[in-house]
Amino acid sequence: MSNLEVPSLKENIHIDQSKWLKEVRVFAPATVANMICGFDVLGFAVDAPGDEVFMRQVAEKGVRIKSIAGDDGRLPLDPDKNTVSACVKLLLADLGLTDAIGIEIELTKHMPIGSGLGSSSASTVAGLFAINALLGEPLSKDALMPYCVEGERLACGHGHADNVAPALMGGITLIRGYEPLDIIALPVPEDLVAGIVFPQVDVPTRDARQLIKEKVRLKDAVTQWGNIAGLIAGLFRADYELISRSMHDVLIEPTRAILIPEFYEMKRIALESNALSFGISGSGPSVVAICKGKEDAQLAVDRIQAHLAKHGIESFQYVSAVNTQGPKLLNKS
Ligand code: HSE
Repeated sequence: MSNLEVPSLKENIHIDQSKWLKEVRVFAPATVANMICGFDVLGFAVDAPGDEVFMRQVAEKGVRIKSIAGDDGRLPLDPDKNTVSACVKLLLADLGLTDAIGIEIELTKHMPIGSGLGSSSASTVAGLFAINALLGEPLSKDALMPYCVEGERLACGHGHADNVAPALMGGITLIRGYEPLDIIALPVPEDLVAGIVFPQVDVPTRDARQLIKEKVRLKDAVTQWGNIAGLIAGLFRADYELISRSMHDVLIEPTRAILIPEFYEMKRIALESNALSFGISGSGPSVVAICKGKEDAQLAVDRIQAHLAKHGIESFQYVSAVNTQGPKLLNKS
C-alpha cells in the first residue's frame, strides 16, 4: 500500500452499518481515453466491453481476491498488488473500516489487458463502485474519484484520469486540471458512435507513455489546443463537421503510431468509410473510428478488420454509442 497516495477523505462521511449489503455485482465500462486530440484530458465511456466485479462480505476481516477470470493469469491475486483490492483496502482504511469488515472479490475481465481500452480502469472503477454500494453508498462519485486515479497510478505508474473519469462518471469527460483534480462532464451528441478495433498486439501503457517526447514545439501545441477547443465547441453545438475537423492529434499519434501495425492504412480506410475521425484509443493498440451513426462505424470496423486479416493480424471489434451511465449495479442482496 505504500505506493498509494490518496489524501484521507476530507468530506464528513456517515457510515450506517444497517445499510450494508451482503453482496453486489457491478459492471464498469471500457473507455476511449484522449479522444484523439486531448491527451490525458479527454475521454469517453462505451457500452461494451467492460469488467465485472462480484463482491461479498465474509466473516474473516480484510480484503481478498478469490478469483480472476479472463486475464490469462496475468493479474496478481495479492490484495496489495491487485489494483482492485488495493484501492478497496485504501478506501476502507480511510473510512476507518479496515478491521470492521471482511471482503471477498471475484473479478471477471471481459476485455484484454494492454488494449488501450482502459482495462485496469474498468476493473478499479467496478471495485470501488462495488465497495461503495456494499457499504450503502456513503461516498459520492466525486469522492470516489481520487481512489480510482490511484488505481491507475498503481496499474501503470502514472495517475492519469482520462480513463477512470469517464468509466466512473459515464459520458464524455474533460480533466480540466489534475492538481486539484477538476473533472467536467461534457455534452454527448446523440449520434456519436465509436467503432473500435483491437488488433491483437500488446502495447503496455507504461511503455507507450515512455515513448512520448517531454517537449513539444509551440506551433504543434497551438494546433493541438485549437483542436481541443474546437472539439469542445463541436460537442456543445452537436456540430459533427466541427467535431470532425477538430479531432486531429499532432503531438502523440505520430510517435505512437509506429507501435500499431497498419495504422495509417487503417486510418485511410476509416476516413474513406465516412468516419468523422480516426486515431489511437488511449495508448493503443486499439484504434477508434469516431462516426456519425452506427452504420458508418460498423462499415469502418468491418473494413479495417478485413484489412488486418489480409495481413494475418487477428482483431476484435466493438461498436458503441457513448455510454452515459458509467458503472452499473447488476444485482445486490
Ligand atoms: N492518456 C493516457 C495515455 C491513456 O494516452 O497514455 C492511457 O490509457
